[in-house]
Amino acid sequence: MNKLYNAGIIGTGSCLPPNIITNKDLEKMVDTSDEWIVSRTGIRERRVVDEDTATSDLATVAARRALDDAGLEPSDIDMIIVATVTPDMNFPSTACLVQSNLGADHCPAFDLEAACSGFLYGFIVASQFIMTGVHKNILVIGAECLSKFLNWKDRNTCVLFGDGAGAAVVSRVEEGYGILSHCMGADGEGGKHLLLEAGGSRKPASLETVKNGLHYVQMEGSEVFKFAVRIMAKASEQVVELAGLTKKDVDFLVPHQANIRIIEGARKRLNLPEEKVYVNLDRYGNMSAASVPVALDEASRTKAIKKGDRLVLVAFGGGLTWAACMLRWCK
Ligand code: UT7
Repeated sequence: MNKLYNAGIIGTGSCLPPNIITNKDLEKMVDTSDEWIVSRTGIRERRVVDEDTATSDLATVAARRALDDAGLEPSDIDMIIVATVTPDMNFPSTACLVQSNLGADHCPAFDLEAACSGFLYGFIVASQFIMTGVHKNILVIGAECLSKFLNWKDRNTCVLFGDGAGAAVVSRVEEGYGILSHCMGADGEGGKHLLLEAGGSRKPASLETVKNGLHYVQMEGSEVFKFAVRIMAKASEQVVELAGLTKKDVDFLVPHQANIRIIEGARKRLNLPEEKVYVNLDRYGNMSAASVPVALDEASRTKAIKKGDRLVLVAFGGGLTWAACMLRWCK
């Protein structure tokens, strides 16, 4: 990588809404069982926001916590990127709403949409501005309120997702630390397998789209599953190689939290023991763009990862998209 400076994460934060929906609760809503959900996905419960809470609310709290962790003020922030598929509204962007909430005066702010890969896409974009010396501190946030876009009568989707937000402050870090390699990709052909069809310029909101449930997430789970297993393993291996390292050099894996069987595939490909992988999908389900930053924040705060550890972060999602990076933890 061509760079003047090293880019890494100097602070993290997260925000999970307090309301919990357990698998037992879902048994009363759709034809499913705790046994099916746990054995097929690893999920036991998920968080959901109340009626009055939107994505920017969770994002703002996560961002404040990340700034506190980094010892920075909102005025120190040079740019805000919010990765989300569940913005408060079409526009203004959720990033602009967060900028206003934080009082991060006049810094550029924009949303980035790469579904569950969004946080890593955002982190990689942010790191380019840091490495070239253009900016010093960038807030990257992954935030979602997926519960508002789920059909709670569709067992194929409603058991899988949850709400939450995670944030990271991306800044200059000392030599030898921070991002060591990265990769990103997309397969637009596969986009049809995971989508929210209406509400855009192709199918604007109408009585018809609402009646046909086109404002809810639709998914062909097994197609996404096959893609995910393949790409998570491939992208993880690729960033290790790009960093000029071997699998033995990987200390910890922080993967997108969609399905324990998908995570296991990536873990095995990297030859890592179970205790070297961060898993919280049992408590939160799949929080799309928020999954990786929330996992990273928890891994950091619980000291599961420590200064000097070499981490692989990897995600896949709607689009279809994927992204991974290798990172030497610096805090
Ligand atoms: O972040 C990206 C977002 N998406 C994903 O990560 C999803 C990736 N895909 C997956 O995680 C898995 O494909 C699922 C968990 C969604 C499904 O697991 P699967 O082992 O691929 O099951 P399947 O789709 O092959 O379905 C098996 C059966 C079907 O019944 P029939 O047709 O065999 O009679 C489904 O109707 O399980 C049924 N099923 C359920 N049963 C009980 C689907 N959802 C449920 C449910 N409870 N919630």
